[in-house]
Amino acid sequence: MTKNKNNQTIWNTRIKKNVSTLFQKVGNSIDIDKKLYKEDIEGSIVHTEMLFRQKIISFKIKNKIIYGLNKIEKEILKNKFEYNKKYEDIHMNIEKRLFQIIGEEAGYVHTARSRNDQVITDFKMWIRSATKEVNKNLDNIIKTILKISEKNIYTIMPGFTHLKNAQAVSFAHYLMAYVEMFNRDKQRFFNNLESLSENPLGVAALTGTSFNIDRNFTTKNLGFKKPTNNSIDTVADRDFVLDFLYSVSVCSMHISRIAEELIIWNSDGFNLINLSDKVVTGSSIMPQKKNPDLLEFLRGKTGSTYGNLFSMLTILKGLPISYFKDLQDDKEIVFKSNETLGNCILILNEVLKNLNPNKQKMLNLANTGYITATDLADYLVKNHSMSFRKAYKITASVVNYAEKKKKKLNELSIDELKSIESKLTIEVLKIFDLKNSVNSKKSYGGTSFDNIKKMIINYKKNLK
Ligand code: ARG
Repeated sequence: MTKNKNNQTIWNTRIKKNVSTLFQKVGNSIDIDKKLYKEDIEGSIVHTEMLFRQKIISFKIKNKIIYGLNKIEKEILKNKFEYNKKYEDIHMNIEKRLFQIIGEEAGYVHTARSRNDQVITDFKMWIRSATKEVNKNLDNIIKTILKISEKNIYTIMPGFTHLKNAQAVSFAHYLMAYVEMFNRDKQRFFNNLESLSENPLGVAALTGTSFNIDRNFTTKNLGFKKPTNNSIDTVADRDFVLDFLYSVSVCSMHISRIAEELIIWNSDGFNLINLSDKVVTGSSIMPQKKNPDLLEFLRGKTGSTYGNLFSMLTILKGLPISYFKDLQDDKEIVFKSNETLGNCILILNEVLKNLNPNKQKMLNLANTGYITATDLADYLVKNHSMSFRKAYKITASVVNYAEKKKKKLNELSIDELKSIESKLTIEVLKIFDLKNSVNSKKSYGGTSFDNIKKMIINYKKNLK
């Protein structure tokens, strides 16, 4: 029997010298992959149960191994587990400790498995939980947005295109656009659960195994749907990692868009929203300043999540299939992206809760830039039977006239309007009312008050 002295690596019989200290220092991953301890122990327990059911190991050995693994989990939870860089990663650290606790019979736990299938089993399980957690946190943001929206259905602001005043909208409608984005994020994360549902355990190093294992048993007991089909692809596949990193990237891109929007609205030029003192920071030299640093943090962090996605894509590019050490970096990248997104979601939620619309400023801004011009064109089409292009031209002349006279559209008299288009009657004046303009957009998905109310109700129902 191979001796496993506790201070030696598993492969010390074959490899006589210790790996260079430099590589030991940089090549180990224990500080990172110790996050996988729970999944690793769960996977090992189910694997051990399976080995026993398949008569590959005895009842006594199975019980000893499971006893040891449970003890290790408790030690880790109580911070009493000593991680050793020499044993590279979480899998070897746990296996080494198992030897210390139950002795030589620990050597049976790695029957019919390799770290290659072990690590991706753990990792898929970890990403599965992380995915569900992200979605829970996204629900909190959606809830916060719905709350603000409910209070601001009748808050009118300009909608922009090219950042120029375009048409009037409800502030709630604007915010609800972000609910759509975060909802798509949730769906995207949810869809990933499918690519995480194939069980890698049992493909061993790359070929499968000659032991009579039962992959359906481990599949069922580790919460997967089916075993993977090809052993070589299984140990090489990191598509599920890319899916996660991509979903994180898209979600942080959405967060950066709302962050940028709020930065603009909070700027002194726009002044459409106020941020409470809880979410701004001061300047070291300018005593008057209140800066939206948290929002800038959110906008900036998108850079790291994109970077992480590109790191992984680059690691995989041109890598022959099966396992290579290159792949070890996948975990650090995913953990970092997950942590960054988790923080960003919490921060955004906090900022949203500390945001107040400056309703008067919103209305004032909506009153500039002739934003009811399109409403006038639509009115002409509907009431004076003309084509949209003709109506567009007449409206442009009205805007030119108002600009020359330094008047807003709602300050023009009916006589002035008639001098441009004689068919117009006094009725047309209501068209320049902003509330009327917002509420007239009743087409599905538009900014009318009823549409917004219905959407809020729908989303509230979905969240329950
Ligand atoms: N820590 C390794 C990783 O995460 C586990 C797989 C090691 N397999 C191997 N053949 N060296 O990639």
